[in-house]
Amino acid sequence: MNIKNRTLYIADNLNIMRNIDPEVIDLIYLDPPFNTKKQYKAPIGSKAEGASFKDIWTDEDVKHEWYGEVAEQNPELYQVIQAAETLYDKSMKIYLMAMAIRLFEMHRILKPTGSIYLHCDSTASHYLKLIMDSIFGKKHFRNEIVWERIKGAGKTSQHSPRSWGRSSDSLLWYSKNNEHQFNSDAIKAPYSEEYLAENFPQQDSKGRYKRRSPFRPPGLGARPNLCYEYKGFIPPHPSGWTVSKSKLQTIDNEGGLEITPNGKIHRKQRPDGMIPNNIWTDILPTAGNERTGYPTQKPLALLERIIKASSNEGDMVFDPFCGCATACVAAENLGRQWVGIDMSESAEVITKLRLQDEIDKGTDLWNPIEDITVSRTPPPLTHPTPETQIPINSLFNQLTPPDYSQAELQAFHSHKHRVYGNQEGRCNGCKHPLPFRNMTIDHIRPKSKNGTDEPHNLQLLCGACNSTKGNRSQKFLIDTLEKQFIR
Ligand SMILES: C[S@@+](CC[C@H](N)C(=O)[O-])C[C@H]1O[C@@H](n2cnc3c(N)ncnc32)[C@H](O)[C@@H]1O
Ligand SMILES: [Zn+2]
Repeated sequence: MNIKNRTLYIADNLNIMRNIDPEVIDLIYLDPPFNTKKQYKAPIGSKAEGASFKDIWTDEDVKHEWYGEVAEQNPELYQVIQAAETLYDKSMKIYLMAMAIRLFEMHRILKPTGSIYLHCDSTASHYLKLIMDSIFGKKHFRNEIVWERIKGAGKTSQHSPRSWGRSSDSLLWYSKNNEHQFNSDAIKAPYSEEYLAENFPQQDSKGRYKRRSPFRPPGLGARPNLCYEYKGFIPPHPSGWTVSKSKLQTIDNEGGLEITPNGKIHRKQRPDGMIPNNIWTDILPTAGNERTGYPTQKPLALLERIIKASSNEGDMVFDPFCGCATACVAAENLGRQWVGIDMSESAEVITKLRLQDEIDKGTDLWNPIEDITVSRTPPPLTHPTPETQIPINSLFNQLTPPDYSQAELQAFHSHKHRVYGNQEGRCNGCKHPLPFRNMTIDHIRPKSKNGTDEPHNLQLLCGACNSTKGNRSQKFLIDTLEKQFIR
């Protein structure tokens, strides 16, 4: 794998991820901007002073070729993103496109046993879930975790409220396939007193328990070797005791059997901790010393729960929008490897400060200033880029390839992505929206009339428009379509 533990990249995560080897990450946590249309700034005087990031999405945040790339790789996904513009607004489409192009890479670098947790809120969670379904597969959706991130009323007007308070974030958890890691034992939490009193009503010197039959249900069939006498008790059915005689003896010696005054025998079942459900109300917002002032900092406890459940010691945890590196600190504390990326220069300073704080607490011997690698350039590429994986013949699906070199064809192909974005997925003749593979590259001024391969002379047409136009001019095509009331 071409990335190494304790690396922090200060760069746009897309450029870094595109170079990361396939299937090397065990767990991805991402907490990207949520499309809140706000600019975030750390308060003056806080550890993170100077840190800021914007969550306002405009045309500058997407490259036109991304539209073509998404439309080619995943036509349904392109339609979902397109629909978000109609249903919501243009900035939602841009935001989703910027997310989709990055989620492709996250899917590629995740191991087959890996998991991804996408942290978002109700601004875009419904659109992001469609995108995740489309990239990771709906059958790999595992949970939506609802985290109560503000205690109390949440965001609404106290004086003249016109809605319920908003106090939750959502985390969409997907796995790469069905062999994902889930360490349920590592995350069991104690039951509440109320729950225990109701469900484990008996008590002895070892604590609470409930009574269970020591016999197998009669429906399970006869088991002569489990039919024996113990302390004067014999099973009421030929299906026998639940365990062998020696095992029952051990359970009894450990205080696991009860004989009640009315002459009945029971096994004691003790509470074994509860796997938290998907509503997390017990993780409080970051407070006190943990607060760095970094805007939208998440609590370590949140990250620790995710990392414990969905990775093992030594595994590689990756956060492509790491901010003040909460996920990296949590991974370090739990003996996992980590790699983080953030565009913001202040991420470097604040991450080192935070890791130093952890070391000052006295658990580890390594030196964050020397042992963290900070890089501004992508790792060396050791796998073929998506560009070279593209089947070139999809370029001229209706034309006979002329004698272009491989490199020229590739340049042409990536140009097709960009033109698709420029034309917003519509044929440049009839203006109908069409899947990427149904569009053909056309020379606006035909090659036979000295038209060049320059980008400005290229357009995408549907098959029908392309055969109407043939070797003629663009004006001929438009006039014909207008006469036929197609435009
Ligand atoms: C919501 S914050 C993450 C906060 C983080 N979870 C924490 O606990 O500190 C989102 C972060 O994404 C970063 N960011 C936004 N776009 C990015 C991109 N394309 N590449 C890398 N980082 C990006 C921002 O600088 C910001 O720090
Ligand atoms: Zn057309």
